[in-house]
Amino acid sequence: MTNWKQHHHGDLMRHFLNTSDYARAELQAMIDEARAMKASPLGTALQGKTIALLFLNNSLRTRTSFDVGAQQLGGHAVVLSPSGGMWPLEFEEGAIMDGEAEEHAKEAAAVLSRYCDIIGVRAFPKFENWEEDRKDKILNAFARHASVPVINMETITHPCQEMAHMMALQERFEADELGKTDGKKFVLTWTYHPKPLNTAVANSALMIAAKFGFDVTLLCPTEEYVLDRRYMEQASKDCKANGRSLSVVHDIDAAYADADVVYAKSWGALPYFGDWAPEKEIRDQYKHFIVDEEKMQKTNNALVSHCLPMRRNVKITDAVFDGPTCIAYEEAENRLHVQKAIMTALVGNR
Ligand code: CP
Repeated sequence: MTNWKQHHHGDLMRHFLNTSDYARAELQAMIDEARAMKASPLGTALQGKTIALLFLNNSLRTRTSFDVGAQQLGGHAVVLSPSGGMWPLEFEEGAIMDGEAEEHAKEAAAVLSRYCDIIGVRAFPKFENWEEDRKDKILNAFARHASVPVINMETITHPCQEMAHMMALQERFEADELGKTDGKKFVLTWTYHPKPLNTAVANSALMIAAKFGFDVTLLCPTEEYVLDRRYMEQASKDCKANGRSLSVVHDIDAAYADADVVYAKSWGALPYFGDWAPEKEIRDQYKHFIVDEEKMQKTNNALVSHCLPMRRNVKITDAVFDGPTCIAYEEAENRLHVQKAIMTALVGNR
């Protein structure tokens, strides 16, 4: 799905679906703008603008930060969700709509485009068949049929989260005089969770680290936990272009050795999508992938983070999460600032 489209007023406009659709310099400009907005939060860039926030899944941070961010810039947010009374939607092209759905995404996207200036979409996978889920049908249906910019608020990737993460890394690298991200070692570690979770944050973390010049290590229990080929290929391509490497490691000590950043996330193994009982048997053997002090001692005093929500003492120990190297709260706060910068880049008053 291309991220450029024609607005119904005729101008060219751009979606924000994935960081891979943007050059590093464009993303950096948004992060720089977000840092300026963090220093001076109120403005008029979204005066008279409305954003529709379509939530097909739960949220604490995304919902709050988009709503507050729009308000701080003079805009307004409308939250829509099936539990909040929205009509059930159909997303399949050519569907015979004789089931539960009362409205097709085509009409919903087109009509919301007549009321609103941006549409944000959160739609997690169905967790039944990865070959279907990886098509990201709901986001792509809105991107295709909306005539205003669409922002991915987490589907099978989570680009806003990883922009906030990169901003937090740059802030802390600068404050601690650690230099640039280029050439530093970024470890994305799988961690245990009692349920099989979405790969979205892991996919986006891998891509943003690769784009910003890190040497990237994906630490996961077995080959079955390697991420989707689309994101592995994109990260590998970006690492190569930056003269860096992407490696997949199953050895915990090797992965943590000399790491500068440890990013923790749990996800379900893709080959088991829809057949989770055997995956759980494997997953249950790897509870020791928890991020703890012993592992962190092997690193180069690495910064550690997580997108939240996070199960304490299952994914990361209290000692590490509440310690001085954890930047998860900065990352969560930066969702607000970076999304303001993204909304401004897409539709802001200049
Ligand atoms: N990290 C994140 O997207 O949080 P929510 O699911 O609470 O929005």
